[in-house]
This record gives sequence, C-alpha cells and structure tokens, in this order.
Amino acid sequence: MKHIKVFAPGTVANLGCGFDVMGLTLDGVGDVLEVGVAENAEGFEIRNRSGVELPGNVEENVITPAVRALLEAYGRPVRIEVEILEKIAPGSGIGSSAASSAAAVYGVNELLGGTPHADNVGPALLGGVVLVRGYRPFDIVRLPVPDNFFYAVAHPGIVVSTREAREALPKRIPLSDAVAQWGNVGGLVAGFALRDVALIGRSMHDVVAEPYRKGFIPGYDALKEQVLAGGALAMNIAGSGPSVFALASNYEAAVRISGEMKRHFEGLGIGCNS
Ligand code: HSE
Repeated sequence: MKHIKVFAPGTVANLGCGFDVMGLTLDGVGDVLEVGVAENAEGFEIRNRSGVELPGNVEENVITPAVRALLEAYGRPVRIEVEILEKIAPGSGIGSSAASSAAAVYGVNELLGGTPHADNVGPALLGGVVLVRGYRPFDIVRLPVPDNFFYAVAHPGIVVSTREAREALPKRIPLSDAVAQWGNVGGLVAGFALRDVALIGRSMHDVVAEPYRKGFIPGYDALKEQVLAGGALAMNIAGSGPSVFALASNYEAAVRISGEMKRHFEGLGIGCNS
C-alpha cells in the first residue's frame, strides 16, 4: 500500500455577501489525513485518531462520497485506507467537511497518479481566495489577495448545523435585496482584483444570510458593533457559523480584534479559540 500525509486548510465561506460563491483558506488551521491506496484490491476504511467525535460508520463520513466519486472516474479496483490525524470540529463554520473531503480526494488522486476530477472538491483544494462563478459546470476563479489583508477568526465552543442554518434562510428575496447583494459581490471581487482592502471591507455586507443566521450566535450584534468601532473593516459570520471573522488591514489589528472576539464569547460563558 502506498501512503501520503495530506494537510487541507480550514476555509471561510461567503465572505459576507458571497453566499455559496466566495471562500478563502486559513493559515495553519486544518485537517491532517494519512491516505493509503492499494491497486487491484478492494475495500474502504476510515480510522479516526483525531480525538474529535465523528460518525463511526463509513457511510456517514463526508469523505466517503467524495472518494467514491473519484474512484468512479478512475474505473479500476482500489483499496483505500484513510486515517484522520487532526480534524477541525464539525459544525464550526470553518469548513470541516470540505477540509476532510478535499484532503482525502487530494491524497487518493496523488497516489493514483492524478485524474482531472480532483478539482471538483473546490476552494479547500485550490487555496487562496476563490470565486465559484458557476456550479454546473464548475467555474472556479482564484483571485489575487492584497498584501494588507488579514482575517481574524473566532470559533466559539457551540455547534451550528449547516443544515439548520440553511433552513433558516428565506427561499425568495426581494429584488431590492438582490440588487444590494450583487452590488456588494461585484465590489468584493473588484476589491480583490484591485487589491483594495477598504473596498473589500465595505463590500462584506450581506442582506441574504446574516440577518437570518445571526440569532444562532450569542451577542452577535453587540460584538459586531464593538469590533467595527474598534477599527475592523468588516465583521460577519464565517460560513454558516458559529465562527465569526473580522477583516483588518494589518496583522497587529487582526490579533487585537481576535482577542476582543474571544473575550466576548468567554464573557458569555462560551469557550472560544481565535
Ligand atoms: N455557503 C455555505 C453556507 C457554507 O453558508 O451555508 C457553509 O459553511
């Protein structure tokens, strides 16, 4: 059996206004998997050594459909063993499912010598700031990132299921909200392309998801007011939450703001990593 150890980063989806179409990767936070592959053999096994609670049944692990899709494209018998060594907690809002499926598919793909389908796992695989211009077919665009772009992310110790956070969203939105949203998405993409962090910050305004999801995050409005008053260029929900992010134009400000966000949650009796 051939082996490879893979790191896949945590990701923050939406970036405020870009619901389901924008995402970026985080430095130094992510999943580590060891993937083993034997050709001309069969079987699929996942072992969890991460200490984070995950479904014991292989069929319920998010890795499974991603790896099966790749194997279907490959078309020959392969035995796969995946050992999960480090894991972002599920329900954190920083791309737990994306990280493990991206890492597993990347690992299998490398060991099998590469097939084109690996690209489909999306932003966690590509890195940087990513726009999903279309899903069918996938049209993924990596955007430039300004040098003075810093993200502070706080992960409070509560779980928000993405399914519930999606069910909380309206199925239809008024045209005036749609106009506001696509104006901001345009501003966000222009901000990256022009490397203009102030334009990025004022475009991270969301009328589609944040108003319906912020109730899942204790003290959200008060925290946002405090963080913006303290110099953040934007604050919003990371993916479907409960993690939140703030944008800053220098590292020191991002560190200070991440401390403020951590203290906010701890003050409410909720443990927090930032
Ligand atoms: N775009 C998805 C959502 C990301 O906001 O529901 C989930 O983390």
